Amino acid sequence: MKIAVACDHGGLRLKNVLIDEMKKQGYEVVDYGTYTEDSCDYPDYASKAAKAVASGECEKGVVVCGTGIGVSITCNKVDGIRCALCHDVFSAKATRAHNDTNMIAMGQRVIGEGLAVEILNAWLHTDFEGGRHVKRIEKMMALEKE
Ligand code: RB5
Repeated sequence: MKIAVACDHGGLRLKNVLIDEMKKQGYEVVDYGTYTEDSCDYPDYASKAAKAVASGECEKGVVVCGTGIGVSITCNKVDGIRCALCHDVFSAKATRAHNDTNMIAMGQRVIGEGLAVEILNAWLHTDFEGGRHVKRIEKMMALEKE
């Protein structure tokens, strides 16, 4: 599976930890930057990862900034993206099972690396439950067409 990743300067270290974890598990990772800790604007990078997921170039996406908030808002502006900001394992599992999220966002300044890796794995390895959640997602995504 191909995973898009992106971050700003505030998320670089955690992004690299998450990339290593995914590569260890055999995922193909496409890194849309940023690649240094020089100050930058998170929408420039998060939008590239989101567009890669929305176009089908990548199946899922992982984005990181200082809080995770800026990158998650950015990704959710892209048509077809459901990006969840997760800082706990329960939410990471639930958002795959119920919201079928195709992107996850985390904040490097909010949680430690060990927890972030657990969250990533919970999210990557939980399947969408379907059923009653399908029509809820359809209603959510219909808002993009209004
Ligand atoms: C950068 O200082 C910081 O604002 C950014 O990483 C992020 O937290 C924005 O939501």
